[in-house]
Amino acid sequence: MRPGDAVEVRGNERAGDARPDALRPLMRRFESDDAEQAARLLDVLSPASVQTAESLRHRQVSEPERARRRSWVALEGVELVGFATAYLHWFGGEAGKGRIWVGVREDRRRRGIGTALWDAAVAHLRGARKHTVEVDDDPAGLSFVERRAFTQYDSEVISRLDPRECELGPEAHEGSRLLRLREMGGRHRELFEFYASAGGIPPGDPENRVTPEEWRRFVLANPLLDDEASVVVVDAEDQVVSLSRLLVDHVRARAENEWTATLPHLRGRGLARLAKLDSISWAAEHGIIEIVTGNDPDNLPMRGLNRRLGYRELYIRRDFERPAETRSQVPDGQG
Ligand SMILES: CC(C)(COP(=O)(O)OP(=O)(O)OC[C@H]1O[C@@H](n2cnc3c(N)ncnc32)[C@H](O)[C@@H]1OP(=O)(O)O)[C@@H](O)C(=O)NCCC(=O)NCCS
Repeated sequence: MRPGDAVEVRGNERAGDARPDALRPLMRRFESDDAEQAARLLDVLSPASVQTAESLRHRQVSEPERARRRSWVALEGVELVGFATAYLHWFGGEAGKGRIWVGVREDRRRRGIGTALWDAAVAHLRGARKHTVEVDDDPAGLSFVERRAFTQYDSEVISRLDPRECELGPEAHEGSRLLRLREMGGRHRELFEFYASAGGIPPGDPENRVTPEEWRRFVLANPLLDDEASVVVVDAEDQVVSLSRLLVDHVRARAENEWTATLPHLRGRGLARLAKLDSISWAAEHGIIEIVTGNDPDNLPMRGLNRRLGYRELYIRRDFERPAETRSQVPDGQG
């Protein structure tokens, strides 16, 4: 299927889908003009992250070739009713792991749209050794992946904060200084090195090694990264020691704490608190009404800090995997 080529979603004939052809949705590759509607769908189905039309377009073109990112839409007329995206993990870590996400508008489910999008994604990832998916708080999503023989391997605790409700005050930090990310100017190399030292770039197979330029294009050039709201802490020698990045959707007044980290040997001194608190105050002052974040369940220090900052834990987002050649209870299509 090339861009622009559309195929009909066949529906579930076993279940008696007798709709005339004209009413059946079409599926085709994602195009730039689909981004607004896709972002609206993700806003509902993927509430723990922030995406806008602009960030979806950026993601589509900012990853290196080895990611093989491809996305699809399901359309009823001009209305987008489903979206899928697939890529190979490329940002450090194990090579050959394919990631898939499929979402269908709630009022259009159980008509075969999810399966059609899924099959296109699986066919695109041919050659991958594993498939991985994540499921938010959605029973239909859970049963969909369980029927495809996925097993859970990880999870994240999803929390939310209304920044206007954060009551914690700042504490003085002798020798440390807060800078807005914007004030870091062209100090990209230092930020990249901070990322590597603080665990932001997972070590991995040689073919998945992240270059500074790949990191810059994907992380720093993300249009959602707000360089006023994102904060860096530097020590007395002007070395980056802690950082808190905020992705902001100003239109929907939503934000995501995408990554907060301190250099390992300086943890436990309140530096992340200093950075995150400043970012939260900025958000409150700029009309943001929700900040979402995800944490490893074992990351008790960060979960404790979030609780003190006023975050409420909402649900567990689960990560699943399966060997790519698995036989699922429902046969994956051949695309
Ligand atoms: C998972 C999701 C994409 C499925 O979308 P969908 O369009 O309902 O998918 P389908 O219609 O192809 O299949 C859904 C189920 O309905 C069944 N079904 C399909 N058409 C049907 C019909 N006409 N009548 C009854 N059942 C039907 C299918 O057999 C399938 O069952 P299974 O999951 O047990 O195999 C959708 O629930 C969703 O958007 N969830 C939120 C996002 C998410 O969690 N994604 C999963 C991670 S990839």
